[in-house]
Amino acid sequence: MAFSERDLRDALGRYATGVTVVTTMTPRGPLGMTVNSFSSVSLDPPLVLWSPARKSSRFPAFEASSHFAIHILAADQRPLAEHFARNGDFEGVSHAPGIGETPLLSGAAARLECLHAVHYDGGDHLIVVGEVLRITEADRPPLVYHRGRYLALPD
Ligand SMILES: Cc1cc2nc3c(=O)[nH]c(=O)nc-3n(C[C@H](O)[C@H](O)[C@H](O)COP(=O)(O)O)c2cc1C
Repeated sequence: MAFSERDLRDALGRYATGVTVVTTMTPRGPLGMTVNSFSSVSLDPPLVLWSPARKSSRFPAFEASSHFAIHILAADQRPLAEHFARNGDFEGVSHAPGIGETPLLSGAAARLECLHAVHYDGGDHLIVVGEVLRITEADRPPLVYHRGRYLALPD
């Protein structure tokens, strides 16, 4: 290959994304992860996907999850993104139980509660497909991620 992993990361980092926190309930308690690999897949049936890295300490719990929730973060939720990039635990983070006991955060621009429908091999990641069971929306501007930086859209 004529490019390094760093080159690929840098090129992909030019694709601006939103920022999500994916949460699930585990036998050890609630778990979260900051994720920008989220994407829509299908409207009928309602399917979305995201990709956890196999090397993450949180990977086995997300692979084994029956349900998860995708929180599309609002611009003022950068501290949550930073927390769940560092750490999967909910210490100091308030939450309420959703479908399948999934821990739900409040204040997101949108929240998708999902059944873990199927997953596929994706190299050093897993491609997890969720069937959307419930949607919650709020009229809040999104948090944006581009080239390693958090941004807010101009008014
Ligand atoms: C903006 C952003 C997006 C991220 N997206 C993903 C992702 O799509 N998949 C993933 O596995 N990790 C992603 N991460 C990394 C995780 O949030 C987390 O840092 C990683 O799982 C840490 O691994 P650990 O549990 O071994 O500490 C992202 C981090 C940031 C800051």
